[in-house]
Formats: sequence, structure tokens, C-alpha cells
Amino acid sequence: MKQTLIELLDTRVRAALATVGCTDAPAIVTPAGRPEFGDYQANGVMAAAKSRKMNPRQLAEEVVAALDLEGIASKVEIAGPGFINITLSPEYLASLMTNALGNSNLGVPLPPAQRVVIDYSSPNLAKEMHVGHLRSTIIGDALARVLRFLGHTVIAQNHVGDWGTQFGMLTAYLIEAEQEGGEMVLSDLEDFYRRAKRRFDEDAEFADRAREYVVKLQGGDAQVRALWQKFLDISLHHCEALYLRLGVTLKREDVRGESAYNDDLPVVVADLQAKGLAVESQGAQVVFLDEFKNKEGEPQAYIVRKQDGGYLYSTSDLAAVRYRVGILKADRVLYVVDARQALHFQQLFTLSRKAGYATEATQLEHVGFGVMLGDDGRPFKTRSGDTVKLVDLLQEAEERAFTLVSEKNEAMPKADRQTIAHAVGIGAVKYADLSKNRNSDYMFSWNSMLSFEGNTAPYLQYAYTRIQSVFRKVQTADEGAAIALTEPAERQLALELARFADAVHAVSREAAPHFLCGYLYDLATHFMRFYEACPVLKSEGAVRDSRLRLCRLTADTLNTGLGLLGIETLDVM
Ligand code: ARG
Repeated sequence: MKQTLIELLDTRVRAALATVGCTDAPAIVTPAGRPEFGDYQANGVMAAAKSRKMNPRQLAEEVVAALDLEGIASKVEIAGPGFINITLSPEYLASLMTNALGNSNLGVPLPPAQRVVIDYSSPNLAKEMHVGHLRSTIIGDALARVLRFLGHTVIAQNHVGDWGTQFGMLTAYLIEAEQEGGEMVLSDLEDFYRRAKRRFDEDAEFADRAREYVVKLQGGDAQVRALWQKFLDISLHHCEALYLRLGVTLKREDVRGESAYNDDLPVVVADLQAKGLAVESQGAQVVFLDEFKNKEGEPQAYIVRKQDGGYLYSTSDLAAVRYRVGILKADRVLYVVDARQALHFQQLFTLSRKAGYATEATQLEHVGFGVMLGDDGRPFKTRSGDTVKLVDLLQEAEERAFTLVSEKNEAMPKADRQTIAHAVGIGAVKYADLSKNRNSDYMFSWNSMLSFEGNTAPYLQYAYTRIQSVFRKVQTADEGAAIALTEPAERQLALELARFADAVHAVSREAAPHFLCGYLYDLATHFMRFYEACPVLKSEGAVRDSRLRLCRLTADTLNTGLGLLGIETLDVM
């Protein structure tokens, strides 16, 4: 199978539309939503009829007469003003199941391979990672996994903030602190930053030294550079410990921070000037983009060099686009960054194309996301109003999960309960984030994310263990058994299983993991219904073998799907 199910149906309906003279008319195939509408529905006929001033029902009849779904559909019906309702044949559905079972990637067809750069996590290294970085890290990592699964070459880029005036202050303070207490002072980065900042605010002499260090750092002074490097190392170590705990695939090699573009910044600005894009405005170098107007209707200024000669976030991002497209040869670049930076990215993309750093064909996408809110609907903070450290949040997740697991399995050895608590706690935090449409803000709630009911990680993990327990009770399962879909619940489960490829493709296309979460939740729900309606272990012969095959494919799909989201599954819990 080279196409997903929707792609296949779409191609066929479109071909039929073309046969009756509607070339280039979209087929618009979607899952039908209601059993009486069949399994899939094509909605394109109405628009095609409208633009040709034809009777839609009549056109639908012509399309259906020309539609070749031999061996795929058992029924094709016209409904309402010209919907085409398609019911798949049980034999075809069964063949999809067999194909998926026999394939290491569950038979998911691969799209044309691309080189995709994903910019994610990208914390500021001056401070410790806090919950604000959680969404970028989790969403970005799920996207990296999904795109790799689909055969793309994914190049992760951790565009850390490792440059700028704060680092003068931090390195100056590092020298002082080392004389006092050595390495220890850096075990709590947040505290280190606070103390350095206090020194900076309260001691003019120290502040001067900090500023001098910035100049030295930027000028390449060996001693200051070494201190800066040491600071970065420790800070990155903190990040890596969190990545490990979160099960995030980012590695040291993926780090390419703002400082990596330092030497390119003057080159970029000179290039923009030479191309007539950057002009001087009040001593700064600025690009006026007609596409972005301010309230007065004048083009907005995108500053690329400050009055004092310093460069900005925007300048390093321009250099990064050049690198990603020019050197890394990216066909697509995803920026998994807070939605509040939307304007910055729109301007960056527009300017990058104008300057020739990206071509029209390069897909540049800001994968924005909303903020994490507390139970009270306000930005997520500690009780005292501080930002929540990521390490504390993950600790609490595991502790809460441990309590839950212990309530359910008092007799289980502690180490086993801890393993489960890790998978459930971290899984719950990740899934709660991934399952929401990333564009909206989302409410962080321990109770709902750790619930064993509803669209949560524990529910899906539990569904998986439930199937694993079936297989523990089976002596032999016939791996080659034929699949027969006779009961409605069997058919519904098979239909759901057949949707996997489309769900994964949707995640990649829209850079939106919630499509996969919604899919897995539906799948688990259909499995539970099937399991209630159709006895597996108590059935016999070919029926039992066929049902076991459906159980196997459901387990494989849940396992693969959760794996693509970066969530662990367990055999028991
Ligand atoms: N360090 C930035 C921040 O914490 C995010 C960087 C995102 N990536 C980028 N290429 N601008 O806000």
C-alpha cells in the first residue's frame, strides 16, 4: 500500500470526478462520523457542481457510476444533496489488518522523504529550565519521532540562549563564587542566577566588571570564554538530566545555540544592506517589511542591529535560517516556540525569503503553542508566585503516580511500583500536553492527567496492559490466522485500526500531535467495546484466532502510537 486509506479513496473519487469532466475538483474524503453514513464520506461533489452550475445529485450519480472501488468498498451510496457514502468491504478491511500485522511499521505508507529541521526545547541557559520550556520540549520531541517514523531525515536543533549580556554577569560572578565555594554554587542554577543578579544590582563595581566581561566574551578573551564554557556545560548538564528523565531524544550534538551564529551576524547585516533590505534608522539597522503594517499603516521595523552596534535575537535567527537551509539543506524547518513569538517568526520568514536565505519551496513553519495555566486559569506558578522548576514538577508527577500505583497494588515490590510510577507520571504529564490542540492555552491539572478514565496516558497505558494480560493467558496464538470481521464490534475495531496511518500523517502535515492522541483514545475505546462484546479467550477455533489477531494489532498500534509520542508502555501496571 503506497497511500493511506484517505489518500486512496481521495484518488479514486477524484479520478471519477475527472472522468465526468470535473478535473482538479477536490474529493474531500473524511471519516463518516455516523454509521448510517458508511465508513468514509466524499463531500467534494457539491462544490464541483456549484462551480459548474450543475445539479449536485445528478453529478453525484455520474461520479458514482464512474467510481472504481472494486475490491475496496462493498457499498457506495448517495445521500443528502450529493454526499457519497462509502462502506468498506470486510474482506478489504481484513486485508489491511493482515498487511499491518506483517509490517514492522504497521504498514504505514511513507510520504516523499524530506530533510526536516526541528528547533525545539531551546531554553535560555542562564537559568534553570522551568515549565515554560516543557511544551516546546515535549511537542518537539513527539514531532521528531513521528517524522522519523515516516522516513524523513530529522535534524534536531536545540537553539539555546547562550549569548548576550547576562553571560557577562554570570561569568563575573562565577569567578567570585569559585573563590568562596567551588562547584557547589552551581548545583542550583536558579539560585546562582538570583545571587549574581543581586550583586549586579547592588554593587556598581561588580556591574562594571560584568559589562567588561561581556565585551571580553564577545572579543574572544580566552579566560572569560573558558568560564563561560564551564557555565554552559553545567547548565546543559541540568537540561540533559531532564531530557533523560522525560525520555526526550535530544543530545549534546543537537545543541547549536545563539553563540554558534556569532561570526555570521555582521555578515548577515552587511548582506541585508547590500541587498537594499536593511537601512539605517536612528542609528540602528532596520528592515521595513511592507507585509507588516503598524497601527498608523506604516511598514513595521524589524531591527537587525541596535544603535550601540549589538545584535539581536532576530539577527541570530536570520543566520540560523541561512545555516539550516544553506548548510543543513532543510526542505522544512519547524520552530516549536511559544505562540507569543508569532510576529517575530512571520517577519523572520518573510525577510528570509526576500533575502534569499530560504526559497519559496522551503517550508518554514512556526509551530506555536499556548501557555500552561494553573487550576485557577492563570499562568502556572508555585503557591508563592514563582515559576515552577521543571525538575520539581517531574518529581511531583512521579510521587503522585507512585501513590496511585501503590493503592492499586499493595503487594507489588517497591522497585516495580517505582518503575510503573515513572512511566505513568511522566507519561501523564507529556500526554496531557500533547493531547490538547497546541494552539490553545491549557489547564494543568494533576487529577485529570493522572485519571485512569478519559483521554489520558494512564487510560491508554492500562488498555495496553489489558491486552498484554490476554496474551499471558494464551498458550499458542496462530500468527498466520485469517482475520474475519463478522460482529459489528470487530468491524468497528478494524476500521479504527485502519485509520492509524492517516492519524500519523495528519500529525506530520499539521505539526500537531493531538491528532494521534485523539486517535489512540478512540482506538482504546473501540477496543474496550470489542472486548466486552466479543469474547476472546472464551471463543474457539478460527473465531478465537481471528480475535487474537485483532488484539495483537491493537496492542502493537497502541505501543507504536504511544512510542511516537514519547510515552512508555508497560506489560503490567
Ligand atoms: N531561547 C528562546 C526562548 O527561550 C527560544 C528560541 C527558539 N528558537 C528560535 N530559533 N528562536 O524564548
